[in-house]
Amino acid sequence: MHLLIPAAGSGSRMKAGKNKLLLNLNGESILYWTLKAVFLSEKVSWVGIIGQPYDKSEIIDSIKEFSDKTCWINGGNTRQESVRNGVNNLPNNATKVLIHDGARCLIKPELIDKCFTELEENDAVISAVKVIDTIKVVNENRIIKETPNRNFLWAAQTPQGFLVTQLKKAHQQAKENSWDVTDDASLFELLKWPVKIIEGNSTNIKITSPIDLKIASLFLSNSQS
Ligand code: C5P
Repeated sequence: MHLLIPAAGSGSRMKAGKNKLLLNLNGESILYWTLKAVFLSEKVSWVGIIGQPYDKSEIIDSIKEFSDKTCWINGGNTRQESVRNGVNNLPNNATKVLIHDGARCLIKPELIDKCFTELEENDAVISAVKVIDTIKVVNENRIIKETPNRNFLWAAQTPQGFLVTQLKKAHQQAKENSWDVTDDASLFELLKWPVKIIEGNSTNIKITSPIDLKIASLFLSNSQS
């Protein structure tokens, strides 16, 4: 099956002055570890890396081991734009696709396989975990407006998987209507198309700030020893 990896961010929250996916994590780039897990999945047959043209040579160099097994697609100014480019550049035979953020380098290959399997029965699936904290909705002055029932709250992760025809349509509609979202499932929700949740792992964190790098380093060291 086909899998797209958005890797075209700037990493501003990491404050590293470069694409965070190129940062060193236990001797390799963050993106290297993501790809290592992806290629351990039994179901992945095609991988597209969505990156900024100015990062291309450094990215390809950092994932040398896998570079002949991946295709390059130019990214956009937002994650949404990057994924739209990715979906529009999938091979013609792609019917279903998984999107997995390059920044989630602790992904377990088994979770990728589970998403693919669930995608055989469903048109749209996402990996997510139950929310542990009590979540507050606030107004612009940070005064609490409400506390949603935690039993119905899940934190969305990737992989997220979709029918290619529907995902293309959703991104096209988003462009026409100027919808601005942070994951692909949100587009399906806006269109009232059902999306099924698959219980993921709390270790499948998105590397965002320097503390996440330290956590990922510990996890990788443990899994290697
Ligand atoms: O910034 P954040 O970590 O939320 O981004 C999630 C994923 O989307 C990352 O893997 C990042 O590289 C990717 N992204 C992208 N194009 C952008 C912005 C982010 O592919 N313009």
